[in-house]
Amino acid sequence: MYLVANWKMYLDFDESIELAECIAQFSISKNTALIVCPSDIALADVNRLLPKSVGRCAQDGYWIEKGAYTGAVSMEMLKAVGCEYVIVGHSERRSQFHETNEQVAKKMLAAWEWGLKPILCVGETREELETGKRSHVLREQLGSIFVDHKKEVKECFVSYEPVWAISRGGVGQHCEPRDLAVVMQDIVGWVCECVPEVDVHFLYGGSVTPENVCSYMTVDHVEGVLVGAASTYKEKLQALLEALAQ
Ligand code: PGA
Repeated sequence: MYLVANWKMYLDFDESIELAECIAQFSISKNTALIVCPSDIALADVNRLLPKSVGRCAQDGYWIEKGAYTGAVSMEMLKAVGCEYVIVGHSERRSQFHETNEQVAKKMLAAWEWGLKPILCVGETREELETGKRSHVLREQLGSIFVDHKKEVKECFVSYEPVWAISRGGVGQHCEPRDLAVVMQDIVGWVCECVPEVDVHFLYGGSVTPENVCSYMTVDHVEGVLVGAASTYKEKLQALLEALAQ
């Protein structure tokens, strides 16, 4: 089972180091793969502090390797500081930084090129859900990679994260596991039809807490969770790991 801890922009450098030091003291069950995603400012130091068994992940990466791209960090640079994974197309990147499906696809290709396993985030907004566009939106987000770049696809993660369920620090609206089961079935069906030979792991994200994590893990095809806010508190992170280990 995967637990991807996305610290977003919640923790500053010192707080990130402190939490990484706590993680180094956790006893983590062998069936749980913890993957930690600090902000870029703490990435290299946190990567050095984490135990070998913990995955190292960036929250984003740019597709061009080097050059005059102020503010960007390339996949090559992420790899050089020990990253093995990179989140691509998180809804906060799509909505607040206007990333398009085409740009997300370029990032996926660059991640594979540099030997990183991308964690692709897909999900619909509340408006898209309410106007019956969920299926269309998901197909476009997935299709720009799994259809348009079918031949280049390598091992990766697809994290279904309904935008309306993502917390803004507190707890967002709850996605019912029975609703998740229906969407997951569609997503897995489409992806596996496009790239039947490739290892794709499916995750869920959106207001996951120690209290509800097990209900998501019972959903077919869900191999883990991507957690934002709750993963930034030592006690909650530990409780999430304990819940997953049961
Ligand atoms: P959250 O974030 O756990 O704070 O809702 C999840 C996500 O961004 O996927």
